[in-house]
Amino acid sequence: MNPSLKSFNTFGIQVYAKHIAVIESAQELLAAWTDATSNGQPAILLGEGSNILFLKDFDGTVIVNRIKGIQITEQDDSWLLHVGAGENWHQLVEKTLLQGIAGLENLALIPGCVGSSPIQNIGAYGIEIKQVCQYVDCIDLNSGQAVRLDNEQCQFGYRDSIFKHADYKHYAIVAVGLKLAKKWQPVLTYGSLTQLDPENVTAQQIFDSVCEMRTSKLPDPKVTGNAGSFFKNPVITAKEAQELLIHYPHAPHYPQIDGQVKLAAGWLIDQCQLKGHQVGGAAVHQQQALVLINEDNASSADIVALAHYVRQQVGNKFNVWLEPEVRFIGSTQEVSGLETIA
Ligand code: FAD
Ligand code: EPU
Repeated sequence: MNPSLKSFNTFGIQVYAKHIAVIESAQELLAAWTDATSNGQPAILLGEGSNILFLKDFDGTVIVNRIKGIQITEQDDSWLLHVGAGENWHQLVEKTLLQGIAGLENLALIPGCVGSSPIQNIGAYGIEIKQVCQYVDCIDLNSGQAVRLDNEQCQFGYRDSIFKHADYKHYAIVAVGLKLAKKWQPVLTYGSLTQLDPENVTAQQIFDSVCEMRTSKLPDPKVTGNAGSFFKNPVITAKEAQELLIHYPHAPHYPQIDGQVKLAAGWLIDQCQLKGHQVGGAAVHQQQALVLINEDNASSADIVALAHYVRQQVGNKFNVWLEPEVRFIGSTQEVSGLETIA
């Protein structure tokens, strides 16, 4: 019988793969990839499956990255961390704080592996991984060569990096290098963090506050299947934003350095009265409209139909067209999320 992928995706969708290979080193990863693809069979890499939607059974091998190891080097002004791609992100945040190393506290409770963190440049509560990522170690799966990309080469953007671009999809991430300055600067720009005292705040207090904010609105995937924000926050031109704000002066909006304006997709969805809206077993989360949940044994078709409906409602009301943040996996490879829900 083919193995189930239900526990390998946080949406908890019941799909199957032909094989699942759990690898614990870069050598094992390359061997598993070569083996799986040798006669033209499909293969895909997976961390903890917290940013994906399996559309169908996977007609090949799912390679699950569990490369472990955290090496910490002390320098005069900073800590250098070399972390295996299969380490759990939140556990890394906890471990660093326990050792008195600050800098990752705003990114607490983000699910997934360390190796996946640069792919969409994970971000929350005023920080993105690009601010602390020094390098990403990869294996070029076409040549078998080890390649190190520095921060600039990663081309980090909002929920974006070079690893999402077509030309780099054959790069398997095996380790991530982080640099955390000893001269710690708290980042207190977001949500209830703004109420903390910048002079006396500790990294642990920020960690606790972030965990509290997140658990109050984001569903725990162990209880209710989901993949975090289903859509990206849309970025529109300043002129488009001006027009929208005439009609909706209270719309949350965040001016970007390049003059564009980011909107809050959750607010747009909420304004369409979609909280709790259900299609089959899929629903819009009551506490955070940007999160689609597996309420009751949803199929991926339910989630796609709900995402389509949400996108249409928001598009019709605001003429703003949402794009998925979640990555869609078809039977042999990743497919376009936007085309799937459009
Ligand atoms: P997966 O879902 O396993 O993989 C993601 C993609 O990367 C897939 O396309 C996969 O093929 C590819 N991939 C996986 N491993 C490798 C590898 N080693 N080499 C190359 N490609 C690889 N994200 C945020 O940015 N901020 C948040 O605040 C946030 N909150 C979330 C809250 C919840 C409740 C959930 C469920 C998700 C949230 N996310 C958030 C999204 C998610 O946590 C991140 O995108 C995370 O980095 C995904 O890690 P993963 O290991 O689960 O990746
Ligand atoms: N809002 C509503 N109704 C809702 C949801 C949000 O009115 O149902 C409003 C909020 O009141 C707030 C604004 O929209 O004014 C933004 O909401 P929130 O602070 O919850 O953040 P978000 O923009 O919805 C983003 C990230 C999250 C990240 C948080 C915190 C994206 C796509 N999402 O969410 O990342 O944790 O900010 O920084 O950028 C993820 O990527 O999976 C994710 C969870």
